Amino acid sequence: MALNVENIRAEFPILSTKVGKYPLVYFDNGATSEKPTAVINRVSKYYREENANIHRGVHHLSQISTTNYENARHSIQAFIGAKKSSEVIFTSGTTEGINLVAQCYGELLSKGDEIIITEMEHHSNIVPWQMLAERKGLDLKFIPLKENGTLDMNAFEGLLTNKTKLVAFTHISNSLGTINPIEELIEKSHHVGAKVLIDAAQSLQHCKVNVQELDCDFLVFSGHKVFGPTGVGILYGKEDILNQMPPYKGGGDMIKEVSMSKTIYNDLPHKFEAGTPNIVGGIALGTAIDWLNQFDFNEIEAYEHELLAYATTKIKEIDGVMIYGTAENKSSILSFLIDDLHPYDIGTLLNQQGIAVRTGHHCTQPVMDFFKIPGTIRASFSFYNTKEEIDVFITALKKAVSMLR
Ligand code: ALA
Repeated sequence: MALNVENIRAEFPILSTKVGKYPLVYFDNGATSEKPTAVINRVSKYYREENANIHRGVHHLSQISTTNYENARHSIQAFIGAKKSSEVIFTSGTTEGINLVAQCYGELLSKGDEIIITEMEHHSNIVPWQMLAERKGLDLKFIPLKENGTLDMNAFEGLLTNKTKLVAFTHISNSLGTINPIEELIEKSHHVGAKVLIDAAQSLQHCKVNVQELDCDFLVFSGHKVFGPTGVGILYGKEDILNQMPPYKGGGDMIKEVSMSKTIYNDLPHKFEAGTPNIVGGIALGTAIDWLNQFDFNEIEAYEHELLAYATTKIKEIDGVMIYGTAENKSSILSFLIDDLHPYDIGTLLNQQGIAVRTGHHCTQPVMDFFKIPGTIRASFSFYNTKEEIDVFITALKKAVSMLR
């Protein structure tokens, strides 16, 4: 059964927003997704009927909140195919998940050990490793990009050594849309005994990922990109590795026992969850995942691919268009420039016609350096977008270009 996009759109109140006299065309899904009514209502219900702290009280509301929070963890566990719910750690988002691994798994590493990342990473999958490399005297290497925005896999093989302890890469590039060959990256990394971290911030809203089938060691993502709230995310880690890692932050909930001379840490997942968490965020992320589960990911992928192909064909009608990220295997992200027109000017003129895109370096300055450009204009589609919206976007883009030329 094909996706009923009209019905899906009706579940997103924000999609009927007007920007001045123009209907909103929301093409900034790479930055954050909009929220369905189910998620919005879940946040409201929590504060109206359930608000209490979790894991701490015997009282009625605390028990309800604790159960709902832990049920959300179970939904997320099933969604990513983790073996145990204790391998699912709540974080504030992808950035925190990566920082947690860099800090805590990083403690197990020694001077001279090597970490490999890629040239297409978001800054959040570069800077924490640079900080760790500096702190512990590690060597940080990167897999270079090729002109079409894919990774140079031959170069990758040359980087792997028996000192490689971790390989961290994005599943899908946020600025180019490239879908990386994660199975091959994992297999080759494991071959030299390295652990693998996948940044899935741009992927779980577009395709199905199963951590056990992939056999990745860590996977991180953000709630707000999978139709859930901001300020909540997930770190998945294999139980044995998480158990070897020291805790992240100290505080309540991550302990079993504290005396003035020593502390005994709690079991997973609580060992990594100090302090009162984003309770409503976690619960509503569970709702977002349950909502997303009603769809067939093959249909989502096929439809989004159709949107990308349509937009790519249409945009090529405009003289001077240069698309960045031309991999065969691409997610619904279209990054481009038109002649030497500044991305910011185009973004501003599109906004004046109701169209939301992101402009700039997209937190991937090394990608921009590789292409020797200051930034791009990025249209990123979700499965609630339509070809009609792409038509509106192309017309608006032509108008913007004619005003600037
Ligand atoms: N990482 C997000 C993006 O690509 C914010 O826009």
